[in-house]
Amino acid sequence: MATNRTFTMIKPDAVKNGYTGAILDDIIKGGFKIVALKYIHLSTEAAGAFYAVHKERPFYNDLVSFMTSGPIVAAILEKDNAVEDFRKLIGATDPKKADEGTIRQKYAESIEANAVHGSDSDENADIEGNFFFSAFERF
Ligand code: RTP
Ligand code: MG
Repeated sequence: MATNRTFTMIKPDAVKNGYTGAILDDIIKGGFKIVALKYIHLSTEAAGAFYAVHKERPFYNDLVSFMTSGPIVAAILEKDNAVEDFRKLIGATDPKKADEGTIRQKYAESIEANAVHGSDSDENADIEGNFFFSAFERF
């Protein structure tokens, strides 16, 4: 299993607010190589399946509604220590608590509409990347 890869989504709020280019630029300048990339609108079924780990959380239904409210950009990223370094680049879940200069601090609206997703482990990075991309879509 690749330990130098992570998976991200630019969430509907950031796409809608016109931050796709700026966020991709921050990601590349942060030392990540884009291995796979796509622009899609998630169905309720797909978003529900992606966030199935949060099924019992009180915010699950709102999260699925939010993630299907507009198109997202999904990507697999490569860098040494990718999962941990990417979580540092994006900042805390709640943008009010995110460090200065992080993607969420700069571009997020709220704890839910928080601009980007980042995998929380190597195992989940692998599962999430495989959810969105086939072997033929990785470069
Ligand atoms: P992500 O998975 O999107 O990278 O975010 P995370 O690890 O920082 O946060 P997580 O606990 O995995 O939560 C997943 C997403 O659910 C939304 N959320 N809403 N209303 C709330 O209290 C709340 N808490 C979390 C956010 O969109 C969060 O990124
Ligand atoms: Mg998470």
